[in-house]
Amino acid sequence: MCTVTCIASINIAVIKYWGKRDEVLILPVNDSISATLDTDHLHAKTTVMTSSTFKEDRIWLNGKEEEIKNPRLQNCLTQIRKRARNSNQWKVHICSENNFPTAAGLASSAAGYACLVVALAKLYQIEDDITSIARSGSGSACRSVMGGFVKWCMGSESNGADSIAKQIVPASHWPEMRILILVVNDTKKKISSSIGMKRTIETSDLMQHRIKHVLPNRIKIIEQAIIEKDFKTFAEHTIKDSNQMHAVCLDAYPPVVYMNDVSHTIINFVHAYNEAVNEVKVAYTFDAGPNATLYLLEESVPEFMGVLDHFFPPGINLEQYRKGLTFKEVINSQELFNKINTTRQAPGSLKYIIYTKVGNGPKYLEDP
Ligand code: DP6
Repeated sequence: MCTVTCIASINIAVIKYWGKRDEVLILPVNDSISATLDTDHLHAKTTVMTSSTFKEDRIWLNGKEEEIKNPRLQNCLTQIRKRARNSNQWKVHICSENNFPTAAGLASSAAGYACLVVALAKLYQIEDDITSIARSGSGSACRSVMGGFVKWCMGSESNGADSIAKQIVPASHWPEMRILILVVNDTKKKISSSIGMKRTIETSDLMQHRIKHVLPNRIKIIEQAIIEKDFKTFAEHTIKDSNQMHAVCLDAYPPVVYMNDVSHTIINFVHAYNEAVNEVKVAYTFDAGPNATLYLLEESVPEFMGVLDHFFPPGINLEQYRKGLTFKEVINSQELFNKINTTRQAPGSLKYIIYTKVGNGPKYLEDP
């Protein structure tokens, strides 16, 4: 029997992948850029095992056996076996779980597929690029195969061979970067990102403008901003790209709506804060749901947490609300509160806050 265990975390895009040119191979219509988060929070942990005694491939997710015939999972398994360096044709058993707080309602497929592929690659001794294999499980998963800031190059080949992810810089390049995930209370039913992007590409007129006239330049600018650690430019394009992704979603027919009233309140609040401090200190971005991810530098965290606590007061469970931050670190300044032109929200409008940073990518765990 051979066993490998690995953990991998989610990534949060600052330039969004939105739209496929090939739905089977999962090939995107644009390059995208993200940061892979630290593995302390929001990671998938996957163990893969092979044995001559296993009669069939099987998979368990969070303790429950799932359908191994899932086409995306089969894509990954087939490609791994094709590229295997060893001649191991034994069946594989896969056990995966994620440590996401159940209240968070955050998507886990990027971490899940990245983790699976990284673990299988070790088991089958694959040494060349595996990001294209993770991509065939879920597009954004290819960016979680590496740590730091990562670019997924859309590529031009029809078989997807050049649609791979590459690291722009490791996490150590910009160690001051911090991430706050604001989990919003959401009761509405979600449209999956696959369905949302398909509808957008088929029906939105604005989408062509985004792909042809905005993104090529934006990608270059933000890549340079990351290399130069220019937070202002990084923040401006992160914010604009999130808003543009949601604008093309709204331009789809019927419209695809992911943000809710609390999401829009967060947007107004971040702009009001940046205006009050006369500097762009915080950037927001939203994926296919109402939760906000904020990028900010470590030096801004105590002050920003103070205003966040003031304008989005916690419900009864403070510990649950501010995960990873101690109370001492928060600065409360009435003078600053007075300068911020926004209204105070009802207690509990944010369900949960996760405080984390950019991470180093997937890790193998030793056998116990
Ligand atoms: C809004 O990677 O979940 O998070 O390829 O269909 O699995 P599939 O989609 P997925 O889409 C992620 C979309 C996004 C933006 C991003 O992460 O770039």
